[in-house]
Amino acid sequence: MSKVTIGPELSIYPMPTLLIGANVNDKPNFMALAWAGAANGDPPIISMSLRHNRHTYLGIKQNWTFSVNIPSRDLIKETDYCGIISGSKVNKAEVCRFKVFYGKLNSAPLIEQCPVNLECKVVHILDLGSHALVIGEIKETHVSENCLTDGKPDVNKIKPLIFTRSPIPHYQAFGEVLGKAFSIGREIEEKK
Ligand SMILES: Cc1cc2nc3c(=O)[nH]c(=O)nc-3n(C[C@H](O)[C@H](O)[C@H](O)COP(=O)(O)O)c2cc1C
Repeated sequence: MSKVTIGPELSIYPMPTLLIGANVNDKPNFMALAWAGAANGDPPIISMSLRHNRHTYLGIKQNWTFSVNIPSRDLIKETDYCGIISGSKVNKAEVCRFKVFYGKLNSAPLIEQCPVNLECKVVHILDLGSHALVIGEIKETHVSENCLTDGKPDVNKIKPLIFTRSPIPHYQAFGEVLGKAFSIGREIEEKK
């Protein structure tokens, strides 16, 4: 098999499409973010990377709280808008007609139209260079009732957007189910 080297690239596909919320100077602001992932199970912790100049980052440092809102596909335009316009210039929550509410942390703004909202408290910030790695403990999770199946968030009802960077940045929908996780791999053992 012939391979081509393309240099050190962030070749991780796909990525989530999230709306990160923070109160900046006491006003809710939201930015699109794809560089995020699960970091710890107990307590539940996520990590995300923000460029230092993001208006949202200013709010995160002011309050040491933030929200993670998962937009569904019907919010594709609003999500992209929050990823190309800075809150230092416009009130994105107003322009996008987001219904903002607060949970137990009081300072992490949540978007009602997003089916899943996480309230997070910052536990570490690490300067990595171009980006700050913000590590936050999830303190509460809000899920729209109509996106639950047997009391659990159902990704097929949430309909999140997948962010794909290569070859052209796109938002994509979830595709087919290919196999049962933590299970299909056993078929290899059975064949031995
Ligand atoms: C799909 C998408 C993903 C993005 N992911 C990130 C990211 O992971 N980190 C980051 O710092 N900026 C990311 N951005 C860019 C910010 O969302 C953008 O600069 C935004 O205007 C910042 O808003 P703010 O200044 O109000 O915080 C992304 C933009 C888009 C469209």
